[in-house]
Amino acid sequence: SIEFVGAREILDSRGNPTVEVEVILDDGAEGRAAVPSGASTGAFEAVELRDGGDRYGGKGVSKAVLGVIDQIGPELLGYDASEQRLIDQAMLDLDDSDNKAKLGANAILGVSLAVAHAAADSADLPLYRYIGGTNARTLPVPMMNILNGGAHADSDVDVQEFMIAPIGAGTFADAVEQGVSVYHALKSVLKQKGLATGLGDEGGFAPNLPQNVAALELIATAVEKTGLTLGTDIALALDVAATEFFADGAYTFEGTKHSAEEMTAIYTKWAADFPIVSIEDPLAEDDWAGWATLVSQLGDKLQIVGDDLFVTNVERLQRGIDEKAANALLVKVNQIGSLTETLDAVELAHRSGFSCMMSHRSGETEDVTIADLAVATNCGQIKSGAPARSERVAKYNQLLRIEEDLDDAARYAGAAAFPRFTV
Ligand code: PGA
Ligand code: ZN
Repeated sequence: SIEFVGAREILDSRGNPTVEVEVILDDGAEGRAAVPSGASTGAFEAVELRDGGDRYGGKGVSKAVLGVIDQIGPELLGYDASEQRLIDQAMLDLDDSDNKAKLGANAILGVSLAVAHAAADSADLPLYRYIGGTNARTLPVPMMNILNGGAHADSDVDVQEFMIAPIGAGTFADAVEQGVSVYHALKSVLKQKGLATGLGDEGGFAPNLPQNVAALELIATAVEKTGLTLGTDIALALDVAATEFFADGAYTFEGTKHSAEEMTAIYTKWAADFPIVSIEDPLAEDDWAGWATLVSQLGDKLQIVGDDLFVTNVERLQRGIDEKAANALLVKVNQIGSLTETLDAVELAHRSGFSCMMSHRSGETEDVTIADLAVATNCGQIKSGAPARSERVAKYNQLLRIEEDLDDAARYAGAAAFPRFTV
């Protein structure tokens, strides 16, 4: 049972404070987890508690840390750590708000994940097996964000993320190797063209480009350079994060205002010209009608992923299922703020024929919990940025360890993760 709950303020990959929680059980088992943080956050996300004031530019999390120590900890003492659902519910009751605004989703999530780690340690199981059981065996396709734009870069590129998906590899390890070869090839393509090779928040290159489609062309050139085949070996994926450039009913894209229909026409053209398996947040977080029209036009060929649209929230997801507004869920633990609610969202998605992509945030730490969650849920896809910057690579490295641990039982998701896509 839970004997100790502690917390501290640490730094994330952008140099902003975040919450780290430690849980110790009476059998000596321990768990630790650190909480990520987004930049292009959705309006409907659970609330991150920040201190305000001068310290760390107002971004301190000492109140969230104190809440863990003084309020959450005492409430949870004596709970069996394997009672994850009861523990998460106890925190929701204690917070007693719709969006975790009182204690903070950062405080609650830190405890929730640290409890799971402690319970796994107590059971002497790796986290992915403790949560997923013996059927947890699918290594996800690493959706590597190798060119950063939008809120993650200082450039004119509107689309936030240009990802490569090594769908043709036989193992996760081979997928990583192929992804890295494309990443390095892209660097030399950019250099040759005199474009900047500095990195964005998620480790991808962040060049200034005249048009968004130029990013797709550069990546296609990089794939060709490696000798891999675009489409069968390496597919492409986007996170447009369109909420970021939506205001007053219009999408300001490449300097001009567009309707949802015009944006959909742009994506349709891109999907015809490039092997795109997945587009995330093609439209804004409240443009439900626009999403439904887009899905009716593109949804049988492509994965259409709701991130800001769903915020890993079962109620918003249920609306999306009912209205056919997407066909996949982006899964971010800190958007909803507890492990139980995250797993509930994944379960609802899978039961409804939606795919799931496990996801990091643009502000990350060395914590690798999401790698284990990707395998535990057999979701088949994970995005953790480029194969560069340790907070990104840490998740891919953990998946290499898990693949080794699973040995012959391991299965790489590959192209099967994208059943709608054909080259
Ligand atoms: P964020 O970006 O973590 O800054 O929200 C990631 C995403 O939009 O998927
Ligand atoms: Zn997104």
